[in-house]
Amino acid sequence: ANDGMIRHDENAIHKTILVGDSGVGKTSFLVQFDQKKFQSGSFAATVGIGFTNKIVCIDGYNVKLQIWDTAGQERFRSITHAYYRDAHALFLLYDVTNRLSFDNISAWLAEINEYAQDDVVIMLIGNKVDMTSERAVRKEDGEAIAQQFGVDFMETSAKTAINVDLAFETIARNLLNKK
Ligand code: GTP
Ligand code: MG
Repeated sequence: ANDGMIRHDENAIHKTILVGDSGVGKTSFLVQFDQKKFQSGSFAATVGIGFTNKIVCIDGYNVKLQIWDTAGQERFRSITHAYYRDAHALFLLYDVTNRLSFDNISAWLAEINEYAQDDVVIMLIGNKVDMTSERAVRKEDGEAIAQQFGVDFMETSAKTAINVDLAFETIARNLLNKK
């Protein structure tokens, strides 16, 4: 019997992709969320694409996320485009210590607009907030561009785990509320 309530399909898989310039911390952000750890040391750029399945519990509902980590390097971009099309949610990351990665955000949003579905859930992330003395992008600047494009925004640290779980919970909640 249907009691009239709209129910979340707990078997639905919400494809979520991580995009942004190389080195902003996409892989680190996902590893922190998935394994609760941060690997410092030499930077190994992601080559190709892969996914991690995670279940986030929101208000008693299990939200299944299939999280795709993309390679930010320019030479892999054409491969990434193919993954936008069936993405339900998207994290767009920049590095708060790298001004260029922030200046590239509007180009990333234009690309998302071109390749992704119109109703894709987008969250802008300013990562590496633990590097306080090297900050090159103010929180207000992140908030302003997010507001301009009508997307959610959060500052995170994949190193100290600040706001990492919260960012995934928020995107899962937005997916749940969309239904
Ligand atoms: P591509 O795979 O090339 O697209 O890069 P990426 O966005 O996956 O970056 P990755 O996660 O590999 O991180 C790049 C470098 O930044 C690594 O040396 C990380 O250890 C470092 N890093 C990532 N996130 C943080 C953070 O929140 N704080 C600090 N201090 N360093 C970070
Ligand atoms: Mg990577």
